[in-house]
Amino acid sequence: MEELPQLKIGFIGAGNMAFGIAQGILKSGNVPSSNVIVSAPSKNNFPRFQEMGVAVTHSNEEVVDGSRLVFLAVKPHLIATVLNGISEQVTPQHIIVSMAAGIPLARLEELLPVGSCVVRMMPNLPCMLQEGAVLLACGKGAGQEVGFLLKSLLSTCGLVEVGPETWIDVHTGLSGSGVAFVYVFAEALAEGAVKMGMPSALAQRIAAQTILGSGRLLRDGGKHPAQLRAEVCTPGGTTIYGLHALEKGGLRAATMGAVEAATERARELGCK
Ligand SMILES: NC(=O)c1ccc[n+]([C@@H]2O[C@H](COP(=O)([O-])OP(=O)(O)OC[C@H]3O[C@@H](n4cnc5c(N)ncnc54)[C@H](OP(=O)(O)O)[C@@H]3O)[C@@H](O)[C@H]2O)c1
Repeated sequence: MEELPQLKIGFIGAGNMAFGIAQGILKSGNVPSSNVIVSAPSKNNFPRFQEMGVAVTHSNEEVVDGSRLVFLAVKPHLIATVLNGISEQVTPQHIIVSMAAGIPLARLEELLPVGSCVVRMMPNLPCMLQEGAVLLACGKGAGQEVGFLLKSLLSTCGLVEVGPETWIDVHTGLSGSGVAFVYVFAEALAEGAVKMGMPSALAQRIAAQTILGSGRLLRDGGKHPAQLRAEVCTPGGTTIYGLHALEKGGLRAATMGAVEAATERARELGCK
């Protein structure tokens, strides 16, 4: 397999996710922007790619012909149409990576030539800022080296893990939908402060920074969340009083239930 600087990369779809991932890949400096091409029916999203030195086209076939690695970054309902349009151009050398939510590997493989190298990738919204959490699941035609290549290529997009396809729906509940759960928590934190008399805009800024800082400590410190929580709890102090209120409100059970509900919904949508 070629080294990253030689790898030709294409995106079918020029929306937010394609932009975030392309930006992450180029930020690493490992891939020159002249090796990247993106397609979309309209010009609407082209300028931001062109500013990065990425080539643009209206032809999905041109993307496939000029790329070894092709990201499918269109909405799930368009996947079949797009794959029907490019399937004749796809060769055994191509690596096709779909980020479409709810479309199983088996369906993608069915729409492509037999033996095609297909990978499912589930990003989340913070991939747009290169702080995402990405789970990759490799299809039958994608060997271990493909997982290694993608892990290394996408490392500047955030955390990148490889796992079985059954984890993709769990990842969707945990991380895709989890982003919204965190926003609800952020909103509630700030509203608590507003209730206690702080101006709303200031409360929101402080809530966001509290979540960011706590997340970085958790990610980079190597400690279990329970240990970090215990370290903040002085006996008889403010935090343990606050935590008691959270436990009475059922935050822990509600959050576990939210991940479970979102995972089950992802499974349900994938079966349709
Ligand atoms: N956003 C998220 O948080 C998130 C998280 C996980 C997974 N995903 C998945 O990522 C994929 C992309 O999502 P997104 O949020 O980036 O969508 P988006 O912003 O709506 O972008 C979709 C892009 O697809 C283009 N497109 C439409 N029809 C096309 C066709 N026939 N051929 C080529 N391109 C076509 C659109 O073209 P125009 O520019 O002309 O409109 C647009 O550039 C989806 O499958 C979604 O499930 C997204």
